[in-house]
Amino acid sequence: VRLAPLHTFGIDTKAAQLVEIAVLSALSTSLQDPYYLLGEGSNSVFLEDYEGCILKVNLKGIEIKETADNYEVKVAAGENWHSLVELLLSKGIYGAENLALIPGTVGAAPIQNIGAYGRELAEFCACVRAHHLSTGERLQFSNSECQFGYRDSIFKRPEMSPIMITEVILHFPKNIAVQTDYGELKALGSLATPMQVFNKVVETRRLKLPDPAVFGNAGSFFKNPIIASSHYESLKQAWPNIPGFVVNEHEVKVPAAWLIDRLGFKGKVIGGVACHANQPLVLLNEGTATGQELLELARAIRSSVETHFSITLENEVRLIGAQGLVAL
Ligand code: EPU
Repeated sequence: VRLAPLHTFGIDTKAAQLVEIAVLSALSTSLQDPYYLLGEGSNSVFLEDYEGCILKVNLKGIEIKETADNYEVKVAAGENWHSLVELLLSKGIYGAENLALIPGTVGAAPIQNIGAYGRELAEFCACVRAHHLSTGERLQFSNSECQFGYRDSIFKRPEMSPIMITEVILHFPKNIAVQTDYGELKALGSLATPMQVFNKVVETRRLKLPDPAVFGNAGSFFKNPIIASSHYESLKQAWPNIPGFVVNEHEVKVPAAWLIDRLGFKGKVIGGVACHANQPLVLLNEGTATGQELLELARAIRSSVETHFSITLENEVRLIGAQGLVAL
């Protein structure tokens, strides 16, 4: 099976087998290792031919229930995230508009706790339902059990690899206020309508982020690093303009795009892979990218950031080798 059409970075690789999961009852409990769970492939990059089976989650269905204070929305894992955001907006259910145009499925959203423009999934995610692929058990994770963090959750732990998310239950308070604190949204002010927020997010993303249909990419390649406040203060001596967002008393989050920009990587090309000129946190497949070229550019960026800022960048996308997940 060709993997290029199954992941948005689009490296021309193959998998030994593909199984589409449209109904849970069709799943056997005797799956052969290795297997890899995939939604729309917007955060997974297949670096080389994968020797196992791709399980593509295609479960569908959306149910909306209204309570006195909330809208409770039950969504099957294979639904497209952005289509859900549009549906919610059309029904007068607000909060998800900041997360417009994030590629991928609803089932993948909790894994990395998708977030953008001042909001993240964790704020709305009441519960995640899952299926254990080896035991056949049905599991349920409350919001706190999901252990959400910045681009993180319990679902990223290696021991969770046999867990297939089947359904996500989102709660949207009826009295929710718009969130316009982040960068480009500030100008809208707190009286903006959710529709205006949606439009601004869509416009901003279209300006900065490449359309995967044109250039293969997987969004931000690295996470924004969180560093000790003392480290941040010492960097500020050498780089007075370095931006930073206070995370807590001891830590500051620094935009990786700023670090990479300072080191001159914008537009840098290695073979068929490029560092995006509008948003250097995004790496692009210019058409003929290979896994080796992607690793080479990503490692060059990581090593230069380490040398100049003493910060180790972590990849945000999942990299998959012949047998499964690999480290950068
Ligand atoms: N910057 C530069 N040069 C650039 C672009 C950005 O110096 O060319 C600096 C600026 O200081 C800017 C800062 O980086 O203020 C932040 O840039 P931006 O607002 O584009 O956001 P980001 O931190 O690079 C994160 C998420 C995005 C999300 C945006 C908006 C991560 C890893 N990425 O990017 O998420 O859309 O914020 O909330 O947290 C993704 O995860 O795939 C993704 C695209």
